[in-house]
Amino acid sequence: MTPPLPSDAPRCIRADSREPSGYREALGERRASLLLTDPPYCLLTRRRKGGDLRDPRAHKKIDQNPIVRFETVRDYRAFSEAWLTRALAHLTPDAPLVIWTNLLGKEPILTAARALGYPHLRGEFTWGKRTTDKNANEQTLRVYEVALVIARTPEPVLAPGDLPTVWAVVGGYDDDGDAARWGSHPHHKPFSVVEPLVRTYSRPGETVLDPFAGSGSLPAAALRLGRQTACLEIEPEWAERVTHRLRETVAAYPPPPNGT
Ligand SMILES: C[S@@+](CC[C@H](N)C(=O)[O-])C[C@H]1O[C@@H](n2cnc3c(N)ncnc32)[C@H](O)[C@@H]1O
Repeated sequence: MTPPLPSDAPRCIRADSREPSGYREALGERRASLLLTDPPYCLLTRRRKGGDLRDPRAHKKIDQNPIVRFETVRDYRAFSEAWLTRALAHLTPDAPLVIWTNLLGKEPILTAARALGYPHLRGEFTWGKRTTDKNANEQTLRVYEVALVIARTPEPVLAPGDLPTVWAVVGGYDDDGDAARWGSHPHHKPFSVVEPLVRTYSRPGETVLDPFAGSGSLPAAALRLGRQTACLEIEPEWAERVTHRLRETVAAYPPPPNGT
């Protein structure tokens, strides 16, 4: 039997990110210094000519296929507005938003963020995902998703001695074997892809908010790098899996004694 969690152990709250209760449970009075999240992508419902769903199974058992589909881009825009409105209320005023999306989702997310007081797209962080195409002489990369980096203010100008901001990374779907261990979520992100985002947009000890935890790649990466996490996930099976993953991460990468 799994031992009970100590009350301060990180956990994933089973909640709908469009509702206020999950944020209150995850954060209490704390505010997060970074929103780093991977909401459902802007994937539209696939229908046959007569109007029937092309893939009804995907709408039934979300644990086997945690993909949400939207009837129209307008619906996706409304969804983005709903969860962003809730999440932004729990951030510090200068917290950046780092939001993963597929290419069709970029415009609705940027529009929603702009309307809520975050007008500056500082850049797009691109994941060049290694494909399995075999060719002795070249490697094909596939760009399916990017992380939009959005803020209230423009990107600060770098001083000559500053390191450059990382805007692209190359990696396979499961380079470190974590996806296979934690349910093979279709939108899993390997640590090497998440690491530059956590390091660039937060400091050790700060709290990183992820209202769409999935299999927990983003909060697990944040914990591993000495940040605190607050996360939500609507599907109970995935939320429970993330709680176990976070507990293992803390055991493997204990936070420094002074919390920073
Ligand atoms: C793109 S996936 C996240 C994948 C995650 N980054 C990972 O590495 O596994 C989006 C997740 O959001 C969850 N979700 C969908 N609608 C939600 C909602 N309204 N509130 C909270 N979670 C939701 C889905 O169940 C899915 O697991």
